[in-house]
Amino acid sequence: MPHATPVIPAMTARARDGTEVRLRPLGRGERDLVAGFFAGLSDDSRRRRFLQPMPRLSETMLRHLVDVDGRRHVAMVAEVDGECAGIARWVAMPDEPGAAEVAVTVTDRFQGRGIGRLLLDALGPSAARAGLATFVYLADPTNLPVLYLLRSLGVQLSFHDGLVQGRQRLSPRHAAVA
Ligand SMILES: CC(C)(COP(=O)(O)OP(=O)(O)OC[C@H]1O[C@@H](n2cnc3c(N)ncnc32)[C@H](O)[C@@H]1OP(=O)(O)O)[C@@H](O)C(=O)NCCC(=O)NCCS
Repeated sequence: MPHATPVIPAMTARARDGTEVRLRPLGRGERDLVAGFFAGLSDDSRRRRFLQPMPRLSETMLRHLVDVDGRRHVAMVAEVDGECAGIARWVAMPDEPGAAEVAVTVTDRFQGRGIGRLLLDALGPSAARAGLATFVYLADPTNLPVLYLLRSLGVQLSFHDGLVQGRQRLSPRHAAVA
């Protein structure tokens, strides 16, 4: 019998500029939301998110992005006035037990308000519950906003194969953030 998906609570928080943000888990199969969100990003944001030009999402990629199970893949959605303003996710790394790769994207017009930070904070409790010890980030070295964001979170950064890799040890603080 399949295990039930763990319940991840929704929460409300205020971004740095005072915007009220609802943070909730992405539901399995919310294809339209994810497809619409990525279609609405600038070319630059899509390239920064996927580390290569990504004019449109392939069916395989879209299927992966909505294949959340609460155990090895969790995504959180940030909503402002009911609109999807950003998505962050962690995906367990098959070759490194206890580690997950993290990606975060905020819609262009909502960037710079503190929503990226809220989204990363909102990943902590589900990661702790899944027993994760490390978050891994991969970023283009020219992507200054994410490097600022990671540095302000105390994430250690290093260069690997032309990309910046960030590694963040998770602690009980991350479990409690939300
Ligand atoms: C990276 C990204 C998610 C950041 O989201 P955001 O909501 O704009 O970031 P925030 O407003 O939460 O900023 C977080 C921190 O980074 C700093 N920061 C963000 N952009 C910055 C910039 N252009 N210059 C200087 N600092 C910046 C903020 O000052 C803030 O620091 P503080 O909390 O200590 O004040 C967003 O720019 C984005 O979606 N980019 C496209 C996709 C992408 O690059 N994803 C990352 C690859 S995994």
